[in-house]
Amino acid sequence: MNRLPGDPLPAAQVSRMLRVDHAGEYGAARIYAGQLAVLGRGGTAPVLREMQAQEQQHLTRFAELLVERRVRPTAMLPLWHLAGFALGAATAMLGERAAMACTVAVEEAIDAHYGVQIEALDAGETGLRDTLTRFRDDERQHREVALRHGAEEAPGYRLLAAAIRTGCRLAITVSERL
Ligand SMILES: [Fe+2]
Ligand SMILES: [Fe+2]
Repeated sequence: MNRLPGDPLPAAQVSRMLRVDHAGEYGAARIYAGQLAVLGRGGTAPVLREMQAQEQQHLTRFAELLVERRVRPTAMLPLWHLAGFALGAATAMLGERAAMACTVAVEEAIDAHYGVQIEALDAGETGLRDTLTRFRDDERQHREVALRHGAEEAPGYRLLAAAIRTGCRLAITVSERL
């Protein structure tokens, strides 16, 4: 059955959205933790910490929403715990610009992802839509910050960014389903 514009989204679909968003913000916070484990004394550390604090706020909000709406988190959290940290640490070991390239790639995937969700939410979900819009704006700003810090000058930028974007999309698909 097709939805008409303005029809309420099935609760199961909203649950899936919240589950994947929670997973994404969890992973994002872990990426910065991994980057800071390597670059915690570097020149970009304050910028990384600031972005990490925002991811933590996003994560906290989604954790609350999961409880409010009785949605279980993804079973993949332990994997994102490790994979997020590993991605952050690995890119940071390539250098500060590679770490920033990672942020650009991740934020591009997340920006597109939130965009699709914002479009899909119906009029009854103004609160959730406002939250997603606010977070998406934060993610766009992270992308800008990373670009200002030389993301595109990272060695192998295009390949690195493409690989990370693909990984993020894969992670999103998996987190929606499991
Ligand atoms: Fe975030
Ligand atoms: Fe972000």
